[in-house]
Amino acid sequence: MNDQDIKAVVKDRYGKIARGEQTFCCLTCGPTTADQCLAVGYTAEDLRLVPEPAILGVGCGHPTALVDLQSGETVLDLGSGAGLDVFLAARRMGKRGLVIGVDITEEMVSIGRQLADQHGFDNVEFRLGEIEQLPVPSETIDVVISNCVINLTPDKLASFKEIHRVLKPGGRFLIADLVTTEELPKEVRASAAAWADCLAGAMEKEAYLETIRCAGFSQVEVLVEKPYEFPGTEDGPWGKIRSVQVRTVKRR
Ligand SMILES: C[S@@+](CC[C@H](N)C(=O)[O-])C[C@H]1O[C@@H](n2cnc3c(N)ncnc32)[C@H](O)[C@@H]1O
Repeated sequence: MNDQDIKAVVKDRYGKIARGEQTFCCLTCGPTTADQCLAVGYTAEDLRLVPEPAILGVGCGHPTALVDLQSGETVLDLGSGAGLDVFLAARRMGKRGLVIGVDITEEMVSIGRQLADQHGFDNVEFRLGEIEQLPVPSETIDVVISNCVINLTPDKLASFKEIHRVLKPGGRFLIADLVTTEELPKEVRASAAAWADCLAGAMEKEAYLETIRCAGFSQVEVLVEKPYEFPGTEDGPWGKIRSVQVRTVKRR
């Protein structure tokens, strides 16, 4: 599969999830998308703060819980889906500041926009776009967050370089993502379905952290690392997957 094939598969999958035609089948930790969010660290109170259709249960961590957000800042959520972390960040920032969500899947962006209108979120914006070529001017962002998305991008170095470009000097990022403990079988790496399920595109952890450094970030800190412990996922390739939450800062 080339990069364009991967993106087409990803858009198809997340379009179906947005339309309610599929769920995130690799997570089997509970019957509802809210259960899936609780399993990766959200609290019931977090989920009460956001419009219910934004809760798709497709994340692997809880980035807004691990990053300090100051009122008046500009936050960028990469692969924002239907807006779960965008709305949570907006609630935490109050009326001052701006939260921008960027997603490659049109259906996700239109759900986010609709929910923002319906629920009176004046300080959020959803933009259609790709992480590898962000629709965001350079050095305009205070905080980048992302939840279970970079693994889906075929060119991780380009993604992290874009994050570096858009952050202001001193800006920070907190990324929740999936990585592997060892190499995955070739047939998994080549599987379109495994790409869309956040498996085939997951990098080995050390290579992932090194890619972030190569993009220009010097201090890269893993704040949380957990096995991807969902019933039925211990065996096979899922047993080699870890959920990590990584923080770094762009040098001033
Ligand atoms: C696993 S979902 C996570 C959604 C959201 N972060 C959440 O936690 O609810 C991945 C999202 O990333 C988007 N995505 C995947 N590849 C992307 C890319 N290259 N650029 C922008 N968005 C992308 C998908 O469309 C999808 O909405």
